Amino acid sequence: MKGIVFTEFLEMIEDKFGYELVDQLLEESDLPSGGIYTAIGTYDHAEMVTLVSGLSKRMDIPVPDLLRSYGQYMFTSFTRSYRPFVERADSAFALLSSVQHYIHVEVRKLYPDAELPHFTIEQPAENHLRMHYISERKLADFAHGLIEGCLATFGETATITKTNLTDDGSQVLFDIRKE
Ligand code: HEM
Repeated sequence: MKGIVFTEFLEMIEDKFGYELVDQLLEESDLPSGGIYTAIGTYDHAEMVTLVSGLSKRMDIPVPDLLRSYGQYMFTSFTRSYRPFVERADSAFALLSSVQHYIHVEVRKLYPDAELPHFTIEQPAENHLRMHYISERKLADFAHGLIEGCLATFGETATITKTNLTDDGSQVLFDIRKE
């Protein structure tokens, strides 16, 4: 998992709860990296699982809620760090439709070792988008937050219905309808 995923996660905790908590969390997590991340480095996905479950226990917030908030936060950070990808789209649906065949393709060129999900995306109607998420990392709640962050960035509102297609969470369907 790329370092940016960790640096932004720790920044979110600092913004929402203060640096003290980041410090305590890193201390008690006993991570192989020592909790020192650079944006372009690559780290074990297991470290993110440790950090998210540690924060969940400490704050008594369910893991799915944390991942979703983190997705929302992350999209805002993408609008800063990867501005050209966001500016190329003129609507939330245009951006979401381009994740699989443009954005993540460019991300892969920048970071050949990136661990990215697979999306099958279809748009049955102008106000209706379907995103089928597949990933062994089972981060659909994070994807949910990214979709919400994307809609918010473009000042749009939509109803997102999330359906688990497998019990283990590796395949999830997002049905997104604009009012
Ligand atoms: C400007 C927009 C975007 C950029 C620059 C971007 C970039 C990235 C990067 C760098 C990673 C980390 C890869 C790794 O850790 O190895 C990632 C992961 C991920 N991205 Fe994107 N992404 C964008 C938009 C989106 C959107 C809109 C969605 C969802 C609809 C999405 C879904 C995901 C998910 C779920 C992961 C976690 C990995 C997994 O589930 O397997 N991304 N993306």
